[in-house]
Amino acid sequence: MSEKIIIGIAGLGTVGSGLVEMLQKNREDILRRSGREFVIKAVAVHNLNKKRDLPEGVILTGNPLDLASDPDIQVVVELMGGTGAARELVLAAMQNGKSVVTANKALLAEYGKEIFALAREKNVSLGYEASSAGAIPVIETLRDSMAGNHITSVMGILNGTSNYILSEMNSKGSSFADALADAQSLGLAEADPTLDIDGGDAAHKLVLLIRLAWGVHFDYDKLVIRGIRDISRLDVQFARDFGYRVKLIGQAREEDGVIEAGVFPALVHKSMLLARVNGAYNAVRIEGNAVGSLFLHGLGAGSRPTASAVLGDLMAVARRSVINTCEANTGYVEDLGDAAILPADDAVFRWYVRTTVRDTPGVLRDIAAAFAAEGISFAQIIQKAADEDDRVSLVLMTHEAPGRAIKAAGKKLLDDGTLLAPHVAYRILGGIGNETEGS
Ligand SMILES: NC(=O)c1ccc[n+]([C@@H]2O[C@H](COP(=O)([O-])OP(=O)(O)OC[C@H]3O[C@@H](n4cnc5c(N)ncnc54)[C@H](OP(=O)(O)O)[C@@H]3O)[C@@H](O)[C@H]2O)c1
Repeated sequence: MSEKIIIGIAGLGTVGSGLVEMLQKNREDILRRSGREFVIKAVAVHNLNKKRDLPEGVILTGNPLDLASDPDIQVVVELMGGTGAARELVLAAMQNGKSVVTANKALLAEYGKEIFALAREKNVSLGYEASSAGAIPVIETLRDSMAGNHITSVMGILNGTSNYILSEMNSKGSSFADALADAQSLGLAEADPTLDIDGGDAAHKLVLLIRLAWGVHFDYDKLVIRGIRDISRLDVQFARDFGYRVKLIGQAREEDGVIEAGVFPALVHKSMLLARVNGAYNAVRIEGNAVGSLFLHGLGAGSRPTASAVLGDLMAVARRSVINTCEANTGYVEDLGDAAILPADDAVFRWYVRTTVRDTPGVLRDIAAAFAAEGISFAQIIQKAADEDDRVSLVLMTHEAPGRAIKAAGKKLLDDGTLLAPHVAYRILGGIGNETEGS
């Protein structure tokens, strides 16, 4: 007879209900593969009056801490979200020697240091595969499969909502506002989409990936985060003309122990696999010194896909007594050190720069001079037709330069009246010298 694992689930929303459904639907497979039978003893929700679809006998409680104090419950699954009640529950469960599985990226990005340390101290498992890129097994890939590599770069499309919006802007020429409204009507964006479109959600995930890749703590507040709210149809169209797609990218690169990381919209060359990740999909590209580059693609959210990752963690707990515990590189040290950080403005990229200028002779010369003074040269320049006010968009594709130089040149040109509006600048990924990636 199979041994039972008694679990408690906090949260029965999108992910929690998907988990309950898949535990029942895949019961036979789960039993065969893990040799254990999962029994849900109790579920915590906020609203006890709402009708719930739960197996017979499951206790419903309004207090998540009941799960942490129940001596029968071996694993607590935290699927409430937020950093208040969720943090209390996770810490209390671990204090009581229970393993925890969570999908909560905000919690682990902001309180990871404390939570991972307690998991280690209590020698309990902490499964969090669902917290980064949903169904994509990126946590396991970094923690286990690539543990023998020195990782040099992790970059990805880590937020499905913003990727859906940008895909619509790219394929249909929609405005940002129309594409957002469309995402909301399909249930892909929350009524308050701030965390998704302003990059906070992707940034939470990036903090977790940096911790796994380099075994350091990168403070969420130190991450440079820029979302997609200001992206115009014009830039999406110009990017297309140059052979690029605009994507919201979370990226971290390491060189000589120093990490440069951020969440930002970028022009991704159409030959790169990342440029072809459309709709609500997520993808992560990892570079390691043994493996070369690895590309993972899949659904980053949704009831069943996210439940799939939660189930994977639960089964890992069932197979081994402890998934120990946190990072590939820090399983043996007491505390995570803080990351050595390269300031974002020092990071060197190629840049797409759109300027708005008067259509008069000498403007290009003035722009070239201001950029040359900052040591920036151009790979391509395109001028778009003038409007009735004689304003033209001049689009510059630069060679490699630090962000601070681009800012300085743009500011000088705005101050001296050459630019009629502040310049718009996005990083460029792929293209020159990288045309064959993924083909
Ligand atoms: N949705 C996704 O596709 C997805 C993907 C990856 C990761 N995640 C993460 O998974 C977690 C859950 O997301 P979700 O989309 O499933 O959220 P959700 O649909 O809003 O569900 C939240 C659930 O938690 C319950 N809850 C909230 N606060 C509570 C409290 N203080 N006490 C007791 N119960 C409480 C709610 O109860 P009521 O039902 O009574 O309101 C609800 O059942 C979040 O951390 C999220 O970031 C979600």
